[in-house]
Amino acid sequence: MTRVAIVTGGTRGIGEAISLALRDQGFLVVANYAGNVEKAKEFTTRTGIAAYRWDVGDHEACIHNCNDVAATFGPIGVVVNNAGVTRDGVLHKMSFEDWNEVIRVNLGGCFNMAKATFPSMRERGWGRIVNIGSVNGQAGQYGQVNYAAAKSGIHGFTKALAQEGAKFGVTVNAIAPGYIDTDMVAAVPAPVLEKIVAKIPVGRLGHASEIARGVAFLCSEDAAFITGSTMSINGGQHMY
Ligand code: CAA
Repeated sequence: MTRVAIVTGGTRGIGEAISLALRDQGFLVVANYAGNVEKAKEFTTRTGIAAYRWDVGDHEACIHNCNDVAATFGPIGVVVNNAGVTRDGVLHKMSFEDWNEVIRVNLGGCFNMAKATFPSMRERGWGRIVNIGSVNGQAGQYGQVNYAAAKSGIHGFTKALAQEGAKFGVTVNAIAPGYIDTDMVAAVPAPVLEKIVAKIPVGRLGHASEIARGVAFLCSEDAAFITGSTMSINGGQHMY
């Protein structure tokens, strides 16, 4: 039976690479996206992967759209919580809105998607949830109290839900990417990024495909004994 996988933020950047890797591994992939309609259309035309638009920070939208995906394609076996936003700024300049938006989308999105899919995985006795954390959730980052808190929260969320899923065949893991060559990282001011890259032992930014391979492995049968873990893929930037 072909298993259905949802990848949030799955039409661009790391999410796009994850969508393709899971498809290549035999999953029927549905990609969620929030805003970039043109890119999503181009993605679907190029890959044949269906793209559904909703905001993962919206609880009702997650429930509604996951039900819709399940009714159309079959029960959801895999969820990759990849969707995330940044609103960088030092605390003394950060607005409450910038704090709240990052927590709502990055961390709230994981809860909303799990609420929409975990009960059915649990009932059916198989599931894979992979949450995309960050090196900055492990180590902290100047100018990112919102993002670091949300990503750090994802690591705690992963370990707690893993305990609830374990005896039902549902594994819950996280991947903590370092700095990857995506639009999000390209938005970091060049002089700041240069200093960050200089501290990465491997000496370069990572590639989205290098994160996607890790996700694909965690979603495979071979990874059935791995749960509650965090795989760091960061070029040695932070050894956790
Ligand atoms: N440690 C210590 N001091 C730092 C610092 C750091 N890492 N980064 C900046 N500073 C200092 C600067 O040297 C500067 O000091 P002076 O005034 O004495 O010169 C001061 O802080 C202000 O720096 P900026 O001029 O950069 O301040 P700003 O208000 O214009 O911008 C900022 C602040 C928005 C945080 C900017 O520094 C920035 O964008 N930093 C990058 C944050 C980052 O790494 N984001 C990652 C995005 S990608 C991602 O998140 C994906 C992932 O998972 C890895």
